[in-house]
Amino acid sequence: MIPEKSEFIYNNYHLEVANLKVNEIKEIVDKAYKTAQLSKDEIIFLLTKKYSSLNYLIEQADQKRQKIFSDKIHLRAIIEISSICRQNCYYCGLRKDNTNLERYQLTPALIINTALKAADLGYKTVVLQSGEDQYPAEDIAAVIEEIKNKADIAVTLSLGERSFEDYLLWKNAGADRYLLKHETADRRLYKKYHPGMSFENRINCLKYLKNIGYQIGSGVIVDLPGQTAKILAADLLLCQDLDLDMMGSGPFIPHNETPLKDKKAGSVEMTLKVTALSRLLMPEVHIPATTALGTIDPEGRKKALKAGANVVMPNVTDSIYRNKYQIYPEKICISEDAEETCRRIEAVIKSMDRTIAKDKGDSLKI
Ligand code: 5AD
Ligand code: SF4
Repeated sequence: MIPEKSEFIYNNYHLEVANLKVNEIKEIVDKAYKTAQLSKDEIIFLLTKKYSSLNYLIEQADQKRQKIFSDKIHLRAIIEISSICRQNCYYCGLRKDNTNLERYQLTPALIINTALKAADLGYKTVVLQSGEDQYPAEDIAAVIEEIKNKADIAVTLSLGERSFEDYLLWKNAGADRYLLKHETADRRLYKKYHPGMSFENRINCLKYLKNIGYQIGSGVIVDLPGQTAKILAADLLLCQDLDLDMMGSGPFIPHNETPLKDKKAGSVEMTLKVTALSRLLMPEVHIPATTALGTIDPEGRKKALKAGANVVMPNVTDSIYRNKYQIYPEKICISEDAEETCRRIEAVIKSMDRTIAKDKGDSLKI
């Protein structure tokens, strides 16, 4: 049926407007692909577009990932060495005021054992992660030395803010990398959600770690209550500035034992937009498909791996401790053992026609 003339004009008009928007998106994405630079306004423009209109952004981020890392996915085995934390971050279930959580601390021998078991399973990196426990620095140094002596793997630390002396001690013991997410670049939000902590100190820690030779990783919590696209754009620009080797973004997940328990969870879409923009703005960084994203969406990690991510961080902590490391509720994989997790992740990667990298996955910048 031929449409009425007025209807025809109306439809055409809408088509043109839609095309205009698509072209604008394409132009900005192409610029990001070619130059790895966008203005804050351009980043905000993309972050505020509907996810359904951003296929091109996701595709181009995936293409950039393919160009740099081909079909290789790097695995990092996480060992949650202690759930004790002296801090009180508003969003996190490990915060010290959460008295409804049984705390644990793995012994040095158990950490070493778990790391060597991960190496036997084929992992080329172990990540020792904990709350801000004051685990003795010398014990951590001894653990690092032992792991590095017995296995040819990279050691990443994710133990929060410590003294510069401790960071140096661990570097000299053989640690390769350090993860310390800045969480949010907005000073006001940072102060609000991290009582007693300082944004400046966080950034100084990251800079110091980089200076003494660590490969460094940072990242953000996406859709933290009060966060805006403008803040997320500042996050991305800050990450570019810090010259990161790794950058991770996970959605906010409300935890019942925290002051943010009634707030809305973050969205998969916004997390994927941030992931894709991270790839285009920092082409060479390692980007994980985060556990938090896999927790709010069973397909979340797969989606991130198709939006620029090239890393998966399976948990290899002994299953009797896993459910006690409750950063947020219903964290995935808490009932599996390390072998099961390894097999399942391998199957997912194979199903995506991707392969597991055989090397340690050091930063491409070193
Ligand atoms: N939702 C999402 N991510 C969280 N983290 C902590 N609590 C939450 C939460 N409720 C992340 C932070 C922190 C890491 C240990 O886990 O980014 O750096
Ligand atoms: Fe502790 Fe880290 Fe959780 Fe903050 S985010 S409460 S420092 S474990």
